[in-house]
Amino acid sequence: MSKRQILVTSALPYANGPLHLGHLLETIQTDIWVRFQKLRGHDCTYLCADDAHGTAIMLTAEKLGITPEEQIKRVQADHQRDFDGFLINFDNYYTTHSPECEHYAQEIYQRLDANGHIEKREITQLFDPEKNLFLADRYIKGACPKCKTDDQYGDNCEACGATYTPADLINPRSVISGATPIEKASTHYFFKLGEFTDFLKQWTRSDSLQPQIANKLGEWLEAGLQSWDISRDAPYFGFEIPGAPGKYFYVWLDAPIGYMASCANWCEQNNRSFDEFWAKDSKAELYHFIGKDIINFHGLFWPAMLESAGFRTPTSVYVHGFLTVNGKKMSKSRGTFIKAATYLKHFQPEYLRYYFAAKLSGGVDDIDLSLEDFTQRVNADLVGKLVNIASRSAKFIHKGNDGKLSAELHNPELWQRVIGKSDEIAGFFDQREYSRAVREIMALADAVNEYFDAEEPWKTAKSEDTAPQAVAVSSQCVNLFRVLMTYLKPVVPALAEQAEAFLNCELRWDGEFAPLLDHKIEKFKAMMTRVDSDTVDKMLEESREEVAAAQQAAPKKVAKKTGAASAEIEFDDFAKVDLRIAEIANAEYVEGADKLLKLTLNVGDETRQVFSGIRGAYEPEQLIGKLTVLVANLKPRKMRFGISEGMVLAAGPGGKDIYLLEPHEGAKPGMQVK
Ligand code: 2FM
Ligand code: ZN
Repeated sequence: MSKRQILVTSALPYANGPLHLGHLLETIQTDIWVRFQKLRGHDCTYLCADDAHGTAIMLTAEKLGITPEEQIKRVQADHQRDFDGFLINFDNYYTTHSPECEHYAQEIYQRLDANGHIEKREITQLFDPEKNLFLADRYIKGACPKCKTDDQYGDNCEACGATYTPADLINPRSVISGATPIEKASTHYFFKLGEFTDFLKQWTRSDSLQPQIANKLGEWLEAGLQSWDISRDAPYFGFEIPGAPGKYFYVWLDAPIGYMASCANWCEQNNRSFDEFWAKDSKAELYHFIGKDIINFHGLFWPAMLESAGFRTPTSVYVHGFLTVNGKKMSKSRGTFIKAATYLKHFQPEYLRYYFAAKLSGGVDDIDLSLEDFTQRVNADLVGKLVNIASRSAKFIHKGNDGKLSAELHNPELWQRVIGKSDEIAGFFDQREYSRAVREIMALADAVNEYFDAEEPWKTAKSEDTAPQAVAVSSQCVNLFRVLMTYLKPVVPALAEQAEAFLNCELRWDGEFAPLLDHKIEKFKAMMTRVDSDTVDKMLEESREEVAAAQQAAPKKVAKKTGAASAEIEFDDFAKVDLRIAEIANAEYVEGADKLLKLTLNVGDETRQVFSGIRGAYEPEQLIGKLTVLVANLKPRKMRFGISEGMVLAAGPGGKDIYLLEPHEGAKPGMQVK
């Protein structure tokens, strides 16, 4: 087997919010592939980074009152912590806000420009005169020009499905400030993508692309390619375009260059050559794992940029579908918008790694995380079938042979059958047909368990004559467990590590398998517990609470005279709200909820219990005895920790910066607030 040199990337997550299970579908898929290639002895390097530029990140930082640099630092630390939690084994995790990325963005741009592939043109766009900012479509709302429904985004109407441009909206307003946008012209820089049509036709026809992707790209190529706008005007968080003061590279220009930046940074640290991977004549294979929403960037813009700038192009782009949960799009209200960190509070990472592997294929179909199926499959396969082989066999070896495996195999045919699947299973992993690999592995685990059951070692162990047979059968099973765990090692690396400790040997898949004979193993220790369906419910409930806490902490938009930012209400609606002064009689932490405090409120002649998402800002003892304002007639809400009977009013962006409203002295518990 000749050694391949492979560079692999996952799409760079935006440094603008936490990771959710959708991100993990991709990184788990990629990580399994990389671990598999490494296990087979190939020189495979896995790179990623945070995608740190753009307007959204700039606005988030502003809202939080921090610099964009501080914002991307915080988010990157969270991302890295969560990826580690899921055992994603990057060789380097970097950022696009780095000197290497700036260097290659400038170099690539200068080469495109020198080759005549950049053009300048004046365009007119909507502009927020208060924020002094050009507005992308998603920052403009107004009423649909067709059906007149208010609060629609600048590109299409959610009510009637009409598509239009932001300038067509009735009463358009800036989502950022509420101001009415004006039209303003400015010069933009474009990459002349159309000049790469022939090159891209050829590139997309190379047989390494998935057929659905080649077809999609083919459709776009047939329809004709437009020049791509790669500049944004200041203020913008990104890199300034050389020779164009006040103009910045659009975030999507430097995002894929982040792959190069991460590589350059890794090469520097590991004494490897950047050119070995990126020069035109590179022998290395280069694969980008991505979701189907970003194929235009990776299948058109990126290869064309690389081609013009004189670098190698990707060997392939591996596209996966979206993640749904319980058959539907992830939803905040259903609690199925599950953050990576929330999952990890409740479950081991390998349950999900295994579940995704059991569902993933080389295609682009969406993957459903059915939580019932998740529980059932992990328990039945990993715990009930695979780990069970070791747990039921080990004791006979310790009792009957002092922990030493037999000197020969009891059933060489079964051994041959299991090791004989090695190439086929390896082929499935290489083709990203993980579900087929998992199916084969579990079918073999069934065969091993059936063999154990048929040999009944628990009976033969009882009499002296037949006791050696119990040892032989169990030794055979431990040997087969070793092979099956090796096949599954890319999927469940921590479980594989426990198996290695138990077996006293490294699980390798870079050559032929030979049985462990006369080999001492350790006592079996429990390797994996079962998934409990109550825990699934707790995770969903916690996800719902996080959304509720975030909404409570989110700063409300201020209504403006010109086009209100949040919908106006009638006086009668306001009059329905019963606001009361409440004295905080007690405040305490809530076990298992890191954002909530449980407040006991004295509201005159009654006491209320309210759960409030203010733990980041207040210690319980600071609050006791204080007066605040309570929405007293809010319908009670059942939460995981109990019923919440109302809501206390607070201001601020969230986290540490939440300020409980404190009434003026003279206010008394129970008084109505008017
Ligand atoms: O869609 C996204 O989340 C982008 N941040 C992906 C970037 S991938 C690469 F090009 F950097
Ligand atoms: Zn409409």
